[in-house]
Amino acid sequence: MCNMHVLEGERVTRYFGGLAAVSNVDFYVDRGEIVGLIGPNGAGKTTLFNLISAAITLKSGVIRFKGEKISGLRPCRICKKGIARTFQSVKVFPGMSVLENVLLGSLFGAPAKLSRADARAEASSLLEFAGLSEMKTVPAGDLTLASQKRLEVARALATRPELLLLDELMAGLNPTEIAGAMELISKIRDRGVTVFMVEHVMRAMMCICGRIIVLHHGEKIAEGTPQEIAASKTVIDVYLGEQVYAGNQ
Ligand SMILES: Nc1ncnc2c1ncn2[C@@H]1O[C@H](COP(=O)(O)OP(=O)(O)OP(=O)(O)O)[C@@H](O)[C@H]1O
Ligand SMILES: [Mg+2]
Repeated sequence: MCNMHVLEGERVTRYFGGLAAVSNVDFYVDRGEIVGLIGPNGAGKTTLFNLISAAITLKSGVIRFKGEKISGLRPCRICKKGIARTFQSVKVFPGMSVLENVLLGSLFGAPAKLSRADARAEASSLLEFAGLSEMKTVPAGDLTLASQKRLEVARALATRPELLLLDELMAGLNPTEIAGAMELISKIRDRGVTVFMVEHVMRAMMCICGRIIVLHHGEKIAEGTPQEIAASKTVIDVYLGEQVYAGNQ
């Protein structure tokens, strides 16, 4: 059992009306990996993350975490089991301070007897990790987009996940902020958290992902190393297009 995937999905399927948003997708993520999920707009990437985190339910198929079926569980149970996520459109609690946002994660994910003082210390240390320690008392809604995204990461880490799902952490960020986000993701992996991430910023995906899965119209059309994906004619045709030939993604 030592080579069991940390996360795996078999024939994962979800319809919206007549639209197969995710169709018979098989996937896996191994412990310690940074796996990328890419594809054109509407390919089903966020839907797949919503299915893993149980924000929505599967039509068919199964999702397992550390060998145990998790599809069918409620979102809070999945978080307790060790899967946390961030959102494509950021969802911080805008009127609460930055520290309070992270404390929510700490108190939810904490072992039974964590004192408030220890929870605050843990939340503070996560804010330092995310580069937000100067912002503790600021209302979360006053942060820049890049900082709100970092705050979501800190709040997710506070729930003590083994697997973190990042949905477009870099969207809307400037090049300096993207470089900072890449560094943060590497640091997350280095602290032992496995990362499954959606991004359109291909340059970043090529640098930090060990493996990339490609969706198109809800179906998995390719999977491989960044080099294999960048060279795949199918992927170039449906997604990467001219960028690859121009070498500027
Ligand atoms: N709640 C919903 N109700 C109806 N249709 C939905 C819903 N959520 C997603 N869809 C549809 O499912 C398909 C997949 O959407 P999804 O958001 O998963 O795409 P995506 O790959 O994340 O795209 P993007 O790169 O733009 O974020 C799209 O056609 C979308 O319009
Ligand atoms: Mg999406």
